[in-house]
Amino acid sequence: MSPAFPVPVRPVIQPPPMEEEVLTDEERTALKACIKTLMKQQDAVLVAHYYTSADLQDLAEETGGCVSDSLEMARFGHAHPAKTLIVAGVKFMGETAKILNPEKRVIMPDLNADCSLDLACPADAFAAFCDAHPDRVSVVYANTSAAVKARADWVVTSGIAAKIVKYLHQQGHKLLWAPDRHLGAYVQRVSGADMLLWQGSCVVHEAFKAESLKKLHAEHPDAAVLVHPESPESVIALADVVGSTTQLIEAVRRLPNREFIVATDNGIFHKMHAAAPGKILLEAPTAGEGATCLSCAHCPWMAMNGLRKLAAVLDSVNEGRCGNEIHIEESIRAKAAISIQRMLDFAAAEKAGQIQLGD
Ligand code: 13P
Ligand code: SF4
Repeated sequence: MSPAFPVPVRPVIQPPPMEEEVLTDEERTALKACIKTLMKQQDAVLVAHYYTSADLQDLAEETGGCVSDSLEMARFGHAHPAKTLIVAGVKFMGETAKILNPEKRVIMPDLNADCSLDLACPADAFAAFCDAHPDRVSVVYANTSAAVKARADWVVTSGIAAKIVKYLHQQGHKLLWAPDRHLGAYVQRVSGADMLLWQGSCVVHEAFKAESLKKLHAEHPDAAVLVHPESPESVIALADVVGSTTQLIEAVRRLPNREFIVATDNGIFHKMHAAAPGKILLEAPTAGEGATCLSCAHCPWMAMNGLRKLAAVLDSVNEGRCGNEIHIEESIRAKAAISIQRMLDFAAAEKAGQIQLGD
């Protein structure tokens, strides 16, 4: 069937240059001490994504916060009593925290930390896509703006996308999906749902190369291949485990293999090493035929987060002039909260065994 509304051609998103924070041991120690004091003064908790620097991940855990995937970041921030949520990750994660916690102050080390999927899906074009298909339930990936979430029926993260799509398919719904074409195609394959796909992609995961991965696997035949579903179909086809960041870390802990080839952002290696000390982790190749190496398995937007910026933002809050606070217009926030809450309620019901998904 050809869609009545032309699905947008693949948008070309130019990632920013990679600028990772480099610190001496003395700087790290001083910055962490200063941040810890400021966090206490401001009743703040730090929620960090697995792709942020090891320094931020360690700091989050040392201060009673959490390091997790985007689903758990949303859940943790919502449940935690702190008045200020610091979100170390990318903008949609900060926005999700604010959508669920309008009464809290949500700040980020750098508000320019975007995401190629979010950038590929402007709210007005997405609304036109939905308007052209009123018979379809719209499901959007969490990697979208608050305005896109507000227009969608459901929000999903990679950890729960396949289950929710399967559920909606079983309820007899036809779907419209945005923005990640690879994750969309993957959940379509595993669920059998009728889906129209937006054509966005992740600049990091799209760079993984199936042919180079096959060669690396031939050199390490006993390694298990772990793939995030934002990767191309040809790469997913080589996977032993396909899953969200948390599910991939769990696989390293659970599987008996000594070696793993990992096709996701290499920031995740910090937690994988901690989860399974002694196991050998190899980066899936981004080089090979057609490689542009724009990302080299690390998200340039995630890399915008760092201890220096975090200290500066907390300092500015103390002086009453914080520039890095997330603000969302209330009418948009309230609508987006409904579609995110649907996902959280589904996750809770599924965990409690209240939702049965057939094969
Ligand atoms: P997770 O939901 O698996 O944490 O993924 C978020 C993301 O941006 C992956 O690129
Ligand atoms: Fe977005 Fe990809 Fe970066 Fe995740 S890794 S935040 S999907 S650009």
